[in-house]
Amino acid sequence: METVLTTHFADDGYRRIDTYRSFGGYDALRKSLSMTPEAIIDEVKKANLRGRGGAGFPAGVKWGFLPKDLSRPRVLVINADEGEPGTFKDRVIMSRGPHLLIEGIAIAAFALRVHISYIYIRGEFVREARILDEAVAEAYAAGFLGKNILGSGFDLDLTVHRGAGAYICGEETSLINSLEGKRGWPRLKPPFPASVGAFGLPTIVNNVETLADVPWIVTNGGEKFAAIGVEKNGGTRLIGVSGAVNRPGVYELPAGTNLKEIIYTHAGGIRDGKALKAVIPGGSSTPVLRPDEIDVSYDIESMAKIGTMAGSGGVIVIPEGTCMVRALSTLMNFYSHESCGQCTPCREGTGWLKKIVGRIEAGKGRAGDVELILDVCDNMMGRTICPLADAAAMPAQSFIWKFREEFDRHIGEQKCPYGNRF
Ligand SMILES: Cc1cc2nc3c(=O)[nH]c(=O)nc-3n(C[C@H](O)[C@H](O)[C@H](O)COP(=O)(O)O)c2cc1C
Ligand code: SF4
Repeated sequence: METVLTTHFADDGYRRIDTYRSFGGYDALRKSLSMTPEAIIDEVKKANLRGRGGAGFPAGVKWGFLPKDLSRPRVLVINADEGEPGTFKDRVIMSRGPHLLIEGIAIAAFALRVHISYIYIRGEFVREARILDEAVAEAYAAGFLGKNILGSGFDLDLTVHRGAGAYICGEETSLINSLEGKRGWPRLKPPFPASVGAFGLPTIVNNVETLADVPWIVTNGGEKFAAIGVEKNGGTRLIGVSGAVNRPGVYELPAGTNLKEIIYTHAGGIRDGKALKAVIPGGSSTPVLRPDEIDVSYDIESMAKIGTMAGSGGVIVIPEGTCMVRALSTLMNFYSHESCGQCTPCREGTGWLKKIVGRIEAGKGRAGDVELILDVCDNMMGRTICPLADAAAMPAQSFIWKFREEFDRHIGEQKCPYGNRF
């Protein structure tokens, strides 16, 4: 199978610039500098490269939203916050192939006529931040960053900026606020960052994996990248499989690999010979699937057709014997804790979901609680500044739609049928 990102990740030296270059690293940047910015953007469009941060927006189209006016500087921000529970693939790129990311950033910056860029990295990623710092210093020393890159006249500065570890700072406008030194609160859109972003300047925010794909696209051409995946969703994806599987980890697979195959073939099937109970397919905010729904192509469109999302590529596998009410309770604690509190439907809604699901699990559920949860979710969806409220409501709704009997049993028996105690 053709790999785009992980080909040399097993080689420990690959994080150093000499080894990276010995495998042809930075040749794509050299090639890009001889192309026109428009030609690079065209290749990315042809590649059907969809954003890997969760929403899946086509990267080339997003890049086209920057204003044509070049009188104001523009900014490229790389989202390395990776806060979605179940998602742990960007840290693999940063720790095993940091130059892949830096080269992708330099190419994208040249294509977007950007001279200022930041990697916004999650505070907890101490080791990855250190590796990135070293790699950025190497890239400056070798002339791939800084002034007059490879004699082309193109300048680019890249700064690694460490966040303080808040999930909401992964949302792009919140990330921009945090980068500016303000509280990490999402902004109302419009204006979108492409017109008013970091420091009031036109800004593109892209995920780590999205940009790390760019050197391969420039080297091999957009069409070849598109051909690896499926229609409208090109290339490979790094898929992080966690939970009750025999071989949890990050797998690079073509977009559109069958989800069942991801779990049973690549991740080795369910641990301890147990049966599968449920799968959260694309990070903890994506609607849960029952075992009879996982024979599906893992790509953006196919997942949307069955009412869920490939999201950020984090597949969470839940085995038989797991209490789905407790699982939802854990998720609701998380979203309630991470709500920034600006919007009433989210601040209050996530708090209510935490409280109601928590009391059902604790054997204190009341008749009508399940309907109340669904009602709270209805009042959250699509009514807030950012999608965090939806990110909490979607799992709550789907857990109830698909595992309603467990909620009813908890309330009817006034205890957890699995023997869980608080
Ligand atoms: C609450 C919340 C958290 C998010 N966290 C991340 C994150 O950690 N990393 C990321 O790349 N995108 C995250 N996103 C999506 C970003 O807002 C944005 O869509 C993405 O960085 C764009 O990059 P892409 O187009 O390359 O995917 C988050 C969105 C929301 C609503
Ligand atoms: S939806 Fe929630 S997290 Fe997003 S801005 Fe509103 S309160 Fe903050």
